[in-house]
Amino acid sequence: MSSIKRCAVIGAGVIGAGWAARFVLNGLDVAIFDPHPEAERRARATLDNAMRARERLTLAPMGELGELSFVATLAEAVRDADFVQENAPEREELKRELLRAIDAHARPTALIASSTSGLLPSRLQAGMDRPGRFLVGHPFNPVYLLPLVELCGGSATDPATIDAAHHFYASLGMHPLRLRKEIDGFVADRLLEALWREALWLVQDDVATVAEVDDAIRYGAGLRWAFMGTFLTYRLAGGEAGMRHFLAQFGPALQLPWTKLMDVPELTPDFIEKLAAQSEQQAAGASLEALERKRDDCLIAIMQALRAQDFASGKTLAQYEERLFAKPQLAKSGSASPDVSKPLRLHEGVVRTEWIDYNNHLTESRYLQVFGDASDALTSLLGVDAAYRRSNGSFFTAETHMIHLREIACLEPFFITTQILHGDEKRVHLFHLMHHARTNEPLASAEQMLLHVDAKTGRVSPASSEVQRRLASLTEAQAKLPLPQGAGRAIQKRK
Ligand SMILES: NC(=O)c1ccc[n+]([C@@H]2O[C@H](COP(=O)([O-])OP(=O)(O)OC[C@H]3O[C@@H](n4cnc5c(N)ncnc54)[C@H](O)[C@@H]3O)[C@@H](O)[C@H]2O)c1
Repeated sequence: MSSIKRCAVIGAGVIGAGWAARFVLNGLDVAIFDPHPEAERRARATLDNAMRARERLTLAPMGELGELSFVATLAEAVRDADFVQENAPEREELKRELLRAIDAHARPTALIASSTSGLLPSRLQAGMDRPGRFLVGHPFNPVYLLPLVELCGGSATDPATIDAAHHFYASLGMHPLRLRKEIDGFVADRLLEALWREALWLVQDDVATVAEVDDAIRYGAGLRWAFMGTFLTYRLAGGEAGMRHFLAQFGPALQLPWTKLMDVPELTPDFIEKLAAQSEQQAAGASLEALERKRDDCLIAIMQALRAQDFASGKTLAQYEERLFAKPQLAKSGSASPDVSKPLRLHEGVVRTEWIDYNNHLTESRYLQVFGDASDALTSLLGVDAAYRRSNGSFFTAETHMIHLREIACLEPFFITTQILHGDEKRVHLFHLMHHARTNEPLASAEQMLLHVDAKTGRVSPASSEVQRRLASLTEAQAKLPLPQGAGRAIQKRK
């Protein structure tokens, strides 16, 4: 776990607001300083988008949100921060001045990062009293969804700063990429800049419109880039002989006049007008909000698909979820050491918009999902984590009996309590009760039998001694509880 609890965000435009949202969603308190009168409204709108995206991205428990506050001065924002992220406009003098002020007002132990897209950290840190704690943490828009963050230290950066920032950003579900050398534009923007220059030339020379340039990317190479990048893709393009053959076949083309990379088209008023007009036509009247949501939903779809492949950004997502599911869930019931002699409150949530039926109520199949999530929370409490699943196996659900008592509507909150009816070396017999979180009213129950299955043989087998020990202690603690109403019931023929 990272020891960072409070963050400061200096400058909350597109990028700063995105950082603030990622921090808040990960339970960190954030103080924002941005002199723009609209900064708070825009940052809250970004947080709304981020919450929406987070709910769609993963079913992992969200935990408590951090608090977002807006303060009137830079000094106030950074005073109590453990981590400061600077996101002011890309002007070196302005950033140097702000970083000097952040350095002067922040606690000596606070880390300070700049989101600069390409300014050199050695130059940015030059005026700081404690330049060792400064680095560039270069993110990508939308910061609350895209995992990449490039880490680049300057000549005065302490290597421990890079390690600490790496650990911190990874804890937020990101993929930190440590640069081996300090260069203008870092790695990602060097690549983006090259593509951007060519794209501008193609439009300038009337080879293609802005929409056609985008089509050339999104129907082809862009699909591959999302998971293999460029080198791994070209290795495959070389066939069985791999990269050597690819270089032999396409290397000579590098000498052809295919690129205008060394040059850049002049942004004359006419050219700007042409780009803007084609861009309007491409957007076809879609609002910024609609396009942002489409972008977010498509990114989520890609990352979820890649998660199923355990590959690239999907692997980052899977690892992040593993950590979220592994967080001790019992603490959520409000007490640091909850009373395990009562049914355990292990899982809670809100009825999501995509879970409802035509009556605006939680649809049937999702009951099984939320009860399944509660069973996962229980087995995680017993010590079944990703490492355990890889080597020892896990609990499989062998039987479920559900009773529906009352409906719950869209966006209403619920929690589930779990009573262990019986536990032994291979079995957990449990009873979940789903409650409305505002009224405590019971909504549905699920009685389940879980069997421990060996990862290698696929057969029912004893759980590890540690899992058995934890299960025995919970079973014993709950042994005196009365049998819940509905337990042991089969389907009845009512009159
Ligand atoms: N937009 C991107 O895609 C992107 C991606 C990665 C990194 N970056 C980098 O992030 C930084 C911010 O870019 P952006 O796109 O969010 O710009 P932006 O113009 O959307 O936001 C900049 C914000 O800084 C505020 N600001 C101006 N002066 C300030 C001051 N003295 N103190 C505090 N705040 C001040 C402005 O009010 C504005 O809200 C830049 O360094 C940029 O290179 C941008």
